[in-house]
Amino acid sequence: MAPLIICKQVVKAYKVDDHELVALRGIDFEMQKGEMVSIIGPSGAGKSSLLNLLGGLDTPTAGQLTVDGQNLLNLRGRKLADYRLRQVGFVWQNVSRNLLPNRSALRNVTLPMMMAGVSPFQRGKLAMELLDAVGLSDKAHQRPAALSGGQQQRVAIAVALANKPILLLADEPTGALDRQSAAQVVELLQTLRQRYGLTILLVTHDLEVAAHADRVLTLRDGALGQDMSKYGDESPRMDDAGSIKLPETVRSRLADASHIAVEIRPEGVLLRPETEADDSAGMGDLLMDAPPPPKRRFAWLRRKPKVQS
Ligand SMILES: Nc1ncnc2c1ncn2[C@@H]1O[C@H](COP(=O)(O)OP(=O)(O)O)[C@@H](O)[C@H]1O
Ligand SMILES: [Mg+2]
Repeated sequence: MAPLIICKQVVKAYKVDDHELVALRGIDFEMQKGEMVSIIGPSGAGKSSLLNLLGGLDTPTAGQLTVDGQNLLNLRGRKLADYRLRQVGFVWQNVSRNLLPNRSALRNVTLPMMMAGVSPFQRGKLAMELLDAVGLSDKAHQRPAALSGGQQQRVAIAVALANKPILLLADEPTGALDRQSAAQVVELLQTLRQRYGLTILLVTHDLEVAAHADRVLTLRDGALGQDMSKYGDESPRMDDAGSIKLPETVRSRLADASHIAVEIRPEGVLLRPETEADDSAGMGDLLMDAPPPPKRRFAWLRRKPKVQS
């Protein structure tokens, strides 16, 4: 089956004053239908730029971008508006971007349906079904302000799914939530993926949230990190003594390190080169807002992707 998303050498440059800022420098990746993929990376890496391109909110400067057989570069006007309305759903970190404050949860969910020409009866019925699916049918008549942050994001997910999109794009949907609400939201995404056959691309800062996906990709300085699940015969194997033979691509990244730090984390094992100059800071700062010191690179050995049903 053809991949749902095909991204080939996608470049995005913004004009800023009199120069160009290259936010994405040749992104290559594919996603199969029904897959859930997380993208992690520091602020400014280009994560939102990539989601905006996939969501038809912006156009690439160069490259090829196909979603469900449609070349997004060729979509214009009505077709593009239709793509945004029916084929893709967005959830943002910022709740005020997801929900209108003066409408109830139910009327937030019915709004995209109204724009798509769904009849009032159908709208009410489908919206209640969706609110039920996100566990909030009892909050249908509340306005966003009466809901907790986690509940608001769950309504936002129902809004994003209003017109039964094939692709759900979520840009740091748990960024403003506490750990427990964040876990609930990402678990809900997984449930909905099964239920509606969704394909989900999730951008996050949070490694624990990211680890719920089948694959985790890293985006740094506009370039995607290696996805180790695609290495086939070269993918690392461990012998009985616990020795791991790393693929050359990974070894070359660790080669100039005098030590390799090994960190066990919920989502897998992290190998991090430690050079003489290394200040032994934790992994956390790598993924936070500040750009990392130039020499630090890292490689993930991840759990095997979960087998999909
Ligand atoms: N509309 C825009 N105009 C100019 N520069 C932008 C615009 N959007 C993003 N950028 C720049 O592109 C880079 C990537 O931004 P973004 O995609 O928002 O990264 P992330 O979501 O990973 O934080 C940053 O340097 C940012 O300042
Ligand atoms: Mg962003």
